[in-house]
Amino acid sequence: PYRAGILGTGSALPARVLTNHDLEKMVDTSDTWIVERTGIRERRIAEPGEATSDYGVQACQRALEAAGVAPEDVGMVICATVTPDMMFPSTASLIQYRIGAVHAGAFDLSAACTGFLYALANAVAMVESGMQRYVLVCAADLLSRITDYEDRSTCVLFGDGAGAVLVGRVPEDRGFLAFDLGSDGSGGRFLYLPAGGSRQPASAESVAARQHFIKMEGRETFKFAVKAMASSTERVLDAAGLAREDIDLLVPHQANIRIIDAARKRFGLEEEKVVVTIDRYGNTSASSIPIALDEAVRSGRARAGQLIVMVGFGGGLTWGATAVRL
Ligand code: ACO
Repeated sequence: PYRAGILGTGSALPARVLTNHDLEKMVDTSDTWIVERTGIRERRIAEPGEATSDYGVQACQRALEAAGVAPEDVGMVICATVTPDMMFPSTASLIQYRIGAVHAGAFDLSAACTGFLYALANAVAMVESGMQRYVLVCAADLLSRITDYEDRSTCVLFGDGAGAVLVGRVPEDRGFLAFDLGSDGSGGRFLYLPAGGSRQPASAESVAARQHFIKMEGRETFKFAVKAMASSTERVLDAAGLAREDIDLLVPHQANIRIIDAARKRFGLEEEKVVVTIDRYGNTSASSIPIALDEAVRSGRARAGQLIVMVGFGGGLTWGATAVRL
């Protein structure tokens, strides 16, 4: 009976910048290679001792402020992350406590880089059903914590950050129109973190074998990503009864500028209709879409009434897209 939409956005990034030139001193790579192959120039890295919830808290507080909603009114906090502060309690519970969302439930959600879109779909369903009035969706990851800075094929890609969106009731002419969410577990081997779970608990051997870091088949992930971005966007447009010309702004997961450009060309979008942050932040996992959305909103690029499509992919392998009238 209710229509769910975006009431406010927020984001938070570490102050410390790690440039391509810094990485040149750490592994056998070059600024030229990284820029040409990925579009990344620098990324943000959290300080030692900091944790994912530190950034999640700031992003959530900014989203609540932007919406003008008090933390006590939030009914649920969902945090999409693959780098929780700890295995448990959930990072969402830590955030719920620290922002003073005293009446909210809280849980983490694991869908790697697609996590924000999965969390958003849950939030929208809760609001549309009338189960919740306000749901705070946070996507936060410190990928630097699981990145192998001796592996040049992955360490140049990742960065840290958090984004958040408050979902609540909106008028009929606004809000979420459709979601497309998918998974193909057969591709799990292309992007994973081997140790620290129940299959291979932490041990002296797992640490020595560098099994607590992201392992990735870059080429396989790349091929999958280009297809998934296009097909998921097409399905979500179909489901919403929209055409590609209706897209005012595309907010894609920021993994590689070549993946983003492939999607942009496929849908015939001009550059100003696609939000890009990868040059400055790299791939910040689940948080990349809400960080890009928050920048677009705060800079005035994303405006009320516009049709926004968000699309992403990641470990699982998973993918997802949504269309929302802001
Ligand atoms: N610097 C210099 N050379 C490098 C580097 C580096 N940092 N990394 C790899 N190379 C070399 C490789 O060793 C290879 O050399 P070889 O030809 O002698 O073997 C050469 O560069 C080309 O390597 P490719 O892997 O073929 O390069 P490609 O053009 O595919 O780019 C990249 C690699 C950037 C990783 C790309 O495949 C990619 O972006 N893939 C998608 C990754 C992705 O999206 N991951 C995130 C998913 S979301 C999530 O859940 C985290």
